[in-house]
Amino acid sequence: MSKHVEVLPNSSALVDRTLQVVLEEIHRALEQRDRATVVLSGGNTPKPLYEALAAQDLPWSKLHVFWGDERYVSAGDPASNQRMARQTWLDKVPIPAENIHGMATDGESPEADAERHEAQLRDFFKLNPGDFPVFDIMLLGMGDDGHTASLFPHTDALQVCDRAVTVGHKDGQPRLTLTVPVLNLSRCVIFMVAGANKQTALSRVLAPSGDEDTYPARLVQPLNGTLWWLLDSEAGSSISVTDTDS
Ligand code: 6PG
Repeated sequence: MSKHVEVLPNSSALVDRTLQVVLEEIHRALEQRDRATVVLSGGNTPKPLYEALAAQDLPWSKLHVFWGDERYVSAGDPASNQRMARQTWLDKVPIPAENIHGMATDGESPEADAERHEAQLRDFFKLNPGDFPVFDIMLLGMGDDGHTASLFPHTDALQVCDRAVTVGHKDGQPRLTLTVPVLNLSRCVIFMVAGANKQTALSRVLAPSGDEDTYPARLVQPLNGTLWWLLDSEAGSSISVTDTDS
């Protein structure tokens, strides 16, 4: 795994740098496999990045978009991660509808919908039993509690390693989330983190040692992929820049 930690001077520089890395990784995937599989994060931080991606000229038919997690709300709910990505990006570009692989939340239960999305991933990646999907680009955010995707502190989802999709819980509310093994199989993981409220969690997550159950983003250690931590100066004020290959 190669790990890169960069602190950008402000939020627009963070967006520009993240866009640059994302585009480099998309083109790398297109060169190697003639398609790019991109997993999106939710929340607020990536919104300007998605708006910037909407202005790009990409071979949209070769781009496939997925989500790292989804709140268990209807697709039209303001809290929906899929709705946010469609409004800021996907509805503005000619990406084929079948290339947008959302986590449906209209089934019988969160557990049933997690299984349904898992089946969709198995079909798309043509997986053998026991295999996990390998995504090209895994975009992640981090909460001020050190969670990522919907892998929240001290929840059962952190331990799930026998499936690709499970049910996470935030304050008891269900969410669908990719599991730790899937995050760590990604060819490239890009954390985009901004804001002073993330400082403390970030220092715990990036510390040489710490408690993964308390700071779940520590669990994201790509096995063979590249790990990027792209931070704005508010979030990364106490973080030292690193470039390591291990
Ligand atoms: C979500 C995200 C979540 C997010 C962090 C950071 O569904 O909210 O996937 O993991 O990345 O909570 O959110 P902000 O970018 O809004 O701080």
